[in-house]
Amino acid sequence: MIGALFRSGITGGIMPLPKRVMQYKLSAFLNINLQTMNTAMTDVRTRRFRHLGMLTVAAVYCLILIAGAVRATGSGMGCPDWPTCFGQWIPPTDVSQLPANYQQIYAERGYADTEFNATKTWIEYTNRLTGVVIGILIFLTMLASRHFRKDNKLVTRLSVAAFFAVVFQGWLGSRVVASNLHPVMITLHMLLAQAIVAMLICAVMRSQHAVVSREGLAELPPVFKKVMIAAMCMTLLQMIMGTQVREAIDIIARSEATRSIWIEQLPLIFILHRSFSWVLLATNFWLVYQIVKHIPASNPMRKLGIAQGVLILSTVVIGVIMNHMDIPAFVQPLHLCLASLIFGVQIAVFLFYKYGTQIHSGDDSKEHREVHSKADRPVAATGSV
Ligand code: HEM
Repeated sequence: MIGALFRSGITGGIMPLPKRVMQYKLSAFLNINLQTMNTAMTDVRTRRFRHLGMLTVAAVYCLILIAGAVRATGSGMGCPDWPTCFGQWIPPTDVSQLPANYQQIYAERGYADTEFNATKTWIEYTNRLTGVVIGILIFLTMLASRHFRKDNKLVTRLSVAAFFAVVFQGWLGSRVVASNLHPVMITLHMLLAQAIVAMLICAVMRSQHAVVSREGLAELPPVFKKVMIAAMCMTLLQMIMGTQVREAIDIIARSEATRSIWIEQLPLIFILHRSFSWVLLATNFWLVYQIVKHIPASNPMRKLGIAQGVLILSTVVIGVIMNHMDIPAFVQPLHLCLASLIFGVQIAVFLFYKYGTQIHSGDDSKEHREVHSKADRPVAATGSV
C-alpha cells in the first residue's frame, strides 16, 4: 500500500514534491489507516462485549428457571452440602455409592431428613453447574468491559459490580442451603439474581447508548418516561409481593402436602398480589400501545415493547392457572422466570427511550460526545442490542 502511495505521484511524478509536503501526505495517509484500524478494533470489542453480556443475561434467566424447578420439585436439599454434593464433586447416581450410615452423618450436621434421591440430586447439581458457567461468563464479560474503562466508565463499573454480585450470590447460595432453605434466604437470593440481570442489561445498553435508534421516539407522549418508570417500580413491587406469596406457600407446604388446599390457606398478600395484576396490565398495555402506535418496526424498541406486553399477559395467565389448578409444580418456575423477564425487558425499553431521546435532544456531556464520536457509525445505525 505504501509502495502504491509512493508510485502514485508523491515521489515518482514528473516533478518531485518538496520533502515536507511528502512527509505530511505520508503521515496523513498512515493516520487515516490507523484510524480505520482503531475503528474496526473498537467495533469488534464493542460487539464482543455486547454478545458476551447478552449471553450472560440469557444464562442468568436459564438459571432462574432451573432454580425455580429446584424449588418446585423440592430438590433444594438434593445436595445437602456445598460446594461438594454428598461429599463428591460429581454426585452419586445411586445410593450404593454412599456410606451405609450417610443419613446419620448428615443428621449430625443438622440435616435430619436427608434421603438420597438421584433425580433431585442431579437437578440441584445442574443448578450449581449453571451457576459455575455464569461465573465464567460474567468473568469474561468483566474482562471485555475493560475496553470501555476510559470512554464509557459506567459499562466497566457495572460489569465489575455484576461480577462481584455473582461471587456474593454464590456465597449466598451456600447460606440458603445452610439455612435449610429458609424462605427469607430464598427471597434474598432471588432478588439478588434480579439485580445481577439488571446490572448486566444496563451495562450492555450503556455500551450502545450513543447509537440506539431514535426513530419515532419524538412522537411518544412526554409522559411516557414517567409511566415507564412507574411500571418498572410496580413490577418490582409485584415481584416482592410474589416472593411473600411464595414464602407463605413454602411454609404451608411443609405441613400440608395436598396442593389443592394451599391457595385457600394463603394470607391477604395473595389477594393483593393477584389484584395488583390488573394495575400492572393496564399500565403496561398503555405503554405497549404507545410503542406500537409511534415506533416504527425498524427500531428494536418496538419488538421489545411487544415482548413486554406478551410477557406480562403470559405471567398473569400462568398466575390464573396456579390459582385455579392448585398450583401445578411445572408452572411455578415459569411464573418466576416470566416475571423476571418482564423486569429485564422493561429496563431495556426504558434505556432505549432514555438514550434515544438523549441523542435526539442533543446531549452534550463530555462522555456522551466522546462515545458518540467513536460509535456513531452506520454499522450500528439500528442500535440492535
Ligand atoms: C404481572 C403480574 C405478576 C407478576 C410480575 C408476578 C410475579 C411473581 C413473583 C416474582 C413470584 C415469586 C416467585 C418465586 O419466588 O418463586 C410470584 C409468586 C406467585 N404468584 Fe405471581 N405475579 C403476577 C401475577 C400473578 C397472578 C395474576 C396470580 C394469581 C391469580 C399470581 C399468583 C402467584 C402465586 C400463587 C405465587 C406463588 C408461586 C409459587 O409458590 O411458586 N401471580 N409472582
